[in-house]
Amino acid sequence: AGPLTVAIDGPAAAGKGTLARAVAARLGLAYLDTGLLYRATGLAVRRAGGSPDDPAATEQAARALSPDDLNDPALRGEAAGDAASRVAAIPAVRAALLEFQRAFAAQPPDGARGAVLDGRDIGSVVCPEAPVKLFVTARVETRARRRFLELRERGTEVIESRILRDMEERDARDRSRSVAPLVPVADAVVLDTSDLDRDGALSAALALTGARV
Ligand code: C5P
Repeated sequence: AGPLTVAIDGPAAAGKGTLARAVAARLGLAYLDTGLLYRATGLAVRRAGGSPDDPAATEQAARALSPDDLNDPALRGEAAGDAASRVAAIPAVRAALLEFQRAFAAQPPDGARGAVLDGRDIGSVVCPEAPVKLFVTARVETRARRRFLELRERGTEVIESRILRDMEERDARDRSRSVAPLVPVADAVVLDTSDLDRDGALSAALALTGARV
């Protein structure tokens, strides 16, 4: 058998990242946060003075990415998130980042027996053959609240109503784009974390994963 792949998709601040990391740790799998690839691409273009809506500049930035670029703390900020969702709508950027993601799943680093990838199109495009697919979601107000608390904890001054508005805009952009829109595939299990804490989400995910591996 080839390596085991767990695909986790869903909107921003649904708890995907925390959950994906915990599932990977529990099952001894490698973990890739694919949003970082889009964030790093968007940030690189912005830093070079370009626009995250420019197809040529963004494709070039995506092709030039190196794994080291994924460690920049600025990638976690809202500016990088906004730039990410813009570059993510450009087909050439998605194509450029596809190989990196598939290689990670096919040959997980450090000899791991598999990998957890989280993003928006892992189950639909990147790893359609993954035996385990979770679509992790939560109410938009709950997600905005989580992001607000997370940013405040990091000392960033933010207004919750603005976060909610930005999140609704980003969701709409991710859901309505013509390439790889954010929608659960037919064989994904939907996990709503609105009323679950971290442990509750992990137990639910492991139960679903265990049943399908
Ligand atoms: O998950 P994260 O908030 O880091 O993702 C940032 C943006 O990158 C998302 O809003 C989405 O537009 C894009 N993205 C994507 N496909 C992925 C991961 C992220 O389009 N697999």
